Amino acid sequence: MTARLAQAVAFQRRPVASLLEHEHGNGSAFWLPTLIGGRMLVVATPALAHEVLHARPGVYVAGRANQRILPVLPSETVLTLDGDEHQARRHLLAPLFHGESLEAMAPIIREIAARETAGWPIGAPFAALPRARFMTLCIAARLLLGIQQPRLVADLERHLSRALHPYTMLAGAQGLRRLGPASPQAAARRSRARFARGVAEVRGARARISRARPPDALDLLGPVIGAGLHDTRVADELFALLLAAHETTAAALAWSLELLAHDPETLTMLAGATDRGDRPRLDAVISEILRLRPPLVDIVRELSQPTRLGHLALAAGTLVLIPPPLIHRHGHSSPETFVAQRFLGDHPDSETWLPFGGGERRCLGASFALLELREIITLIAERFEVHPADGVREMAHLHGTALVPGRGARVILRPR
Ligand code: HEM
Repeated sequence: MTARLAQAVAFQRRPVASLLEHEHGNGSAFWLPTLIGGRMLVVATPALAHEVLHARPGVYVAGRANQRILPVLPSETVLTLDGDEHQARRHLLAPLFHGESLEAMAPIIREIAARETAGWPIGAPFAALPRARFMTLCIAARLLLGIQQPRLVADLERHLSRALHPYTMLAGAQGLRRLGPASPQAAARRSRARFARGVAEVRGARARISRARPPDALDLLGPVIGAGLHDTRVADELFALLLAAHETTAAALAWSLELLAHDPETLTMLAGATDRGDRPRLDAVISEILRLRPPLVDIVRELSQPTRLGHLALAAGTLVLIPPPLIHRHGHSSPETFVAQRFLGDHPDSETWLPFGGGERRCLGASFALLELREIITLIAERFEVHPADGVREMAHLHGTALVPGRGARVILRPR
């Protein structure tokens, strides 16, 4: 194996550890070969990250970069568009995730979390990540599409997980196109088509149900998308939104359980935190979870023109990676330790805390994700004691572009 291939495989297997090793030898910016996006420039300091994220519009573009690291994404979605088209799409979707829409979501999130956690095993070890995935997909499907039937949600989950299959993820490697129908590009096309058929089925089933009895769920995406997008684009946008929303929030929840299982005092404090008006403590804990275990390893931009960054002269087309796990170590004492009160009375600084990215492409669903985390973590803390299944602390593995606990966040629950 060549040295570059070995480095690319190491990043895939042990993403955070291998970034730390590279940083140790190379400092603030270094080149990293990767299997999926090819060679990237990793920017490892808050100052350089700020320079990239807040550069003049159009210099560093995110849409083309997102497509390179997640080639299964369709080309015309809020994640993959750039320039005016991106702004128009973002403008169309933004109202879903603000103010009144969010307030209406909280009781539905609580109801789904209560129903799903009621089926979690008690007194026996289990991996929380797959359960968190299903729960967050139930929430997204109910809020975005208005569907409630677990069977339809399970179908959506199957389509999404096939899309993140490691082989499909290789669709960015142009050399593999020659494999024709067996190529990852063909697998990605099939995956998107299956998902589009699944969405059509789900929407059809929902239309039949709504005719029989009025829906009691939100269907946030329906009216907005119906008003502003052609039908052919609806499935693509949904696919992108669910990919952005689902694995990230599930990873954040799984890490929450993994970390809180080792900090029972904090978990007890969180039981009823919202009722007691202790929202600042809850938010501080969530900020620390997202600092220490950010769900995404890669905020990416592609250079649209030759540019200088720090002391480097970079060519157009360079892919720049800003990894929250490295940036989040700056500006803190004992950055590798979970400190529940770290952000108490002190909002995270947007230069050293960027689990949701930054600049004009900052995560559109950040407020929604934080609402989900607040509601679900409080509910779990109220109902359960969470214990580690064994003494092993879990390492981060890559699933798609998400950093997930390597053993799935194995815990034991006991009723409180
Ligand atoms: C804890 C959960 C989540 C995390 C950590 C997260 C993180 C991120 C990050 C790092 C980006 C890239 C930002 C950049 O390039 O600067 C992003 C983009 C995005 N996220 Fe999230 N996300 C989460 C949940 C969600 C949810 C729940 C939704 C939607 C319901 C969502 C929708 C989006 C969209 C649409 C974009 C693309 C924005 C654009 O390019 O204009 N995310 N997210």
